[in-house]
Amino acid sequence: MSDCNQRIIAPSLLASDWGKVGEEIKRAEEAGADWLHLDVMDGHFVDNISFGPQFVASVRPHTELPLDVHLMIERPDHYLDRFVKAGSDRITVHVEAQHDVGKTLGAIREAGCGCGLALNPATPFDDVIPFLDQIDLLLVMTVVPGFGGQAFMETETMPKVSAGREFREEHGLSYHIEVDGGIDATTVHIAGQNGANVMVAGTSLFKAPDMAEATKQMRG
Ligand code: DX5
Ligand code: ZN
Repeated sequence: MSDCNQRIIAPSLLASDWGKVGEEIKRAEEAGADWLHLDVMDGHFVDNISFGPQFVASVRPHTELPLDVHLMIERPDHYLDRFVKAGSDRITVHVEAQHDVGKTLGAIREAGCGCGLALNPATPFDDVIPFLDQIDLLLVMTVVPGFGGQAFMETETMPKVSAGREFREEHGLSYHIEVDGGIDATTVHIAGQNGANVMVAGTSLFKAPDMAEATKQMRG
């Protein structure tokens, strides 16, 4: 049973120096990261392109940390087995993407990975309700996905974080609630107070003068 009240810090490799990603992974580990967040972007679902399953596979042998793979792609079902084979520990797909959401979530679980469902700031919480009893993690995007370094969107997203916590308590579920985008030493507490326990941060961790200090502050 995952402890959805335990604070988990997940640096996003999107904000790291890809030219020395091995060193960046070590830096994140030494700074005290719990998971590594990998932002996969296909240039269709979001207006940016990042990396694919081969990059995940190249990261895998360099760390024991759980790989928290965030698929910001139009057809996560089509690519799923490649991300599983690459060594993902958790795979999160978007409710807005063009796939049979329930089927994809089932396939992620079948493959032995933790399954996550993400919703964008403009997507109503109601859209994820049909799937909440079959996920291990709910990702409430706190920026419009596609780029790091954007501002935290509090009013559009915090009500959904607290709705996620309420639904979980009411229905005796145990999914993590993850936030992603604009998370820093200040916004992390707002997200925590509303019910988030997995904090994804790119800029505020990898670009911090002291990543260990920044990670400690995230823990609160
Ligand atoms: C945005 C990604 C986020 C992003 C977070 O599409 O999903 O994970 O990398 O970046 P920061 O923490 O810099 O806002
Ligand atoms: Zn992400």
